Amino acid sequence: MIDSNEKGNHKPLRVAVLVSGSGSNLQVLIDAMQAGALPIEIVGVISNREDAYAITRAKDATIPVAVLSHVASGKRMGIKTFETHASAQLTTWQPDLIVLAGFMRVLSAEFIDNAPAPMINLHPALLPAYKGLDTYQRVIQAGDRHHGCSIHVVTAELDAGTVLTQALLEINHKDTANNLQTRVQKLEHQLLPWTILLLAKGVLSLNNEQLPNQQPTCMPTLPLKLYLDS
Ligand code: GAR
Repeated sequence: MIDSNEKGNHKPLRVAVLVSGSGSNLQVLIDAMQAGALPIEIVGVISNREDAYAITRAKDATIPVAVLSHVASGKRMGIKTFETHASAQLTTWQPDLIVLAGFMRVLSAEFIDNAPAPMINLHPALLPAYKGLDTYQRVIQAGDRHHGCSIHVVTAELDAGTVLTQALLEINHKDTANNLQTRVQKLEHQLLPWTILLLAKGVLSLNNEQLPNQQPTCMPTLPLKLYLDS
């Protein structure tokens, strides 16, 4: 349970972020943290790719980074080796929350179940529709009218945990997969900090657990939805 919001305890939420790519969502969290707009401390970033620009973003913000891409001999790390190192690193950082922000490896049930903190994932689709990859191409091909992004609790089944929040937009007839991705990423940059703020404040809880200072009637029906124009 996330407990940084217990009465009288105003410590920032300790957040670890797992990344694989550009890290634009990580940057939004860094900016919000530095501006004092989000009561979090990013205690560390783990990248499974040595070429992820997210590493530069974290280093520029003097956030500890663990790059877990290759073993000492130069061989690419298998998922089991990655998970062993990532578990040890997370245990050292002691996060309250682990955020998968563009993390592109599938984690094992064992890793998820034994993680030192609850884990949430940002997914570029309106779950439960379009789990997995290439969501933009698939919604365009299907002729859908809406697309968006979701933040869900990570469970052993891929993209299937409880959906906490979603942001959605209307698809224009001129949209291509590329510009739809750009539009949805703008939504992500609002949805991720908003969701973490709700978790940090105890408005949202994970796994249906109540924080000590909340009445059960406070809990909203999930997912919370943001309708945005982008
Ligand atoms: C985001 O659009 C996120 O939704 C997606 O990766 C991108 C990372 O962008 N995640 C997934 O597809 C997970 N299945 P970023 O590195 O610029 O934050």
